[in-house]
Amino acid sequence: MFNILKIEKDKSALKIKWSDGKESNFNFLWLRDNCPSAHDKDSRHRMFNILKVSENINPKKYNINSDGKLEIKWSEGDHTSFYDTNWLRENCYTLKNNYTSPYELWDNSLQNNLKSIQIEHDEIIKSKEGLIKWLELLHHKGIAIVKNAPIEKESAFPVLNRISHTRETFFKTPFEVINIPKPNNSAYTAHALRNHMDLPWFENPPGYQFLHCLVNDAKGGDSSAVDAFAVADYLRKNEKEIFKTLISVPLKFRDKDYTQELHRSFYAPAVSLTKDGDYNDIRFSVATMDALDCDQDIMDSVYKAHHRFGNLLHDDKFQIKFRLESGDIFSFNNRRLLHGRTEFDPNSGNRHLQGYYMDRDEIIGRLRFLKK
Ligand SMILES: [Fe+2]
Repeated sequence: MFNILKIEKDKSALKIKWSDGKESNFNFLWLRDNCPSAHDKDSRHRMFNILKVSENINPKKYNINSDGKLEIKWSEGDHTSFYDTNWLRENCYTLKNNYTSPYELWDNSLQNNLKSIQIEHDEIIKSKEGLIKWLELLHHKGIAIVKNAPIEKESAFPVLNRISHTRETFFKTPFEVINIPKPNNSAYTAHALRNHMDLPWFENPPGYQFLHCLVNDAKGGDSSAVDAFAVADYLRKNEKEIFKTLISVPLKFRDKDYTQELHRSFYAPAVSLTKDGDYNDIRFSVATMDALDCDQDIMDSVYKAHHRFGNLLHDDKFQIKFRLESGDIFSFNNRRLLHGRTEFDPNSGNRHLQGYYMDRDEIIGRLRFLKK
């Protein structure tokens, strides 16, 4: 419980001294805009329109009332606001909350502890704790392997729907990762796939991907994964010029699928950061990076950065290798992890995965809801 000891008014803000000695400033327009009565109680949307008051609105009177609330009588609009002091403290924008990253970066040492990223299918289906554990692995580590899922076609829907709905693309849901004649995507061959993300040429590539292994009897076809945030972090600390290029130069990606009657294309830097300087997403795909059209004076440094980043993304210091078994659902953050596989021999046995996508909002939003 936070109590207010003292309130002072200056030109544009109320200065508040708290009982624990901390001080906050609350801008007048910010306060008026966030009056608790501004929101509809059902839709919770703001109904108040800040454009209906002037930029000069200010508290005519202010005090802590007998309910312990900050009461403000405004200079305009014949309106009085009542603020819960805990709400003010929680939403204070002048007391800097030290940001802590949700991401637990990992490298090849995870290889020795693969059990730590596994979770039983039935645990997720039957318990909230299981679901939370899966979501936490996905959010913090960016990777989880669900074990002992059913192996019928499309049987990953129930466990995925414990989180939310999937994201549809033109590959359909689920998409079939199996070798086919005249493939429109290299995933649908028996070739090795370098570490990549899926669909980097979308404005917003799928946040998460789920590869459900139905059968994996063929020779070869082992999986790899790398935490590209960890690689970016290594470059940030050790090779600053490369990192600067990766975050600042937009690269061009293009979908080359011959079955499509559209040309999808998008520019984005290899690494993007959040407002707090944390990692937001990665764009890396050797297969679908288009012919770059950066300025000639930076092309050399862009290619050298791309080359260095790509090498580290395949370096055994960073990547882990494992084999998917039937009933596994390899789940991962598609804009953080890169995934790949070795070549397999389609004549030696069957290999069939079914893939699903989900937006990042669904994962993080569901986790926030369940943890509340
Ligand atoms: Fe893929």
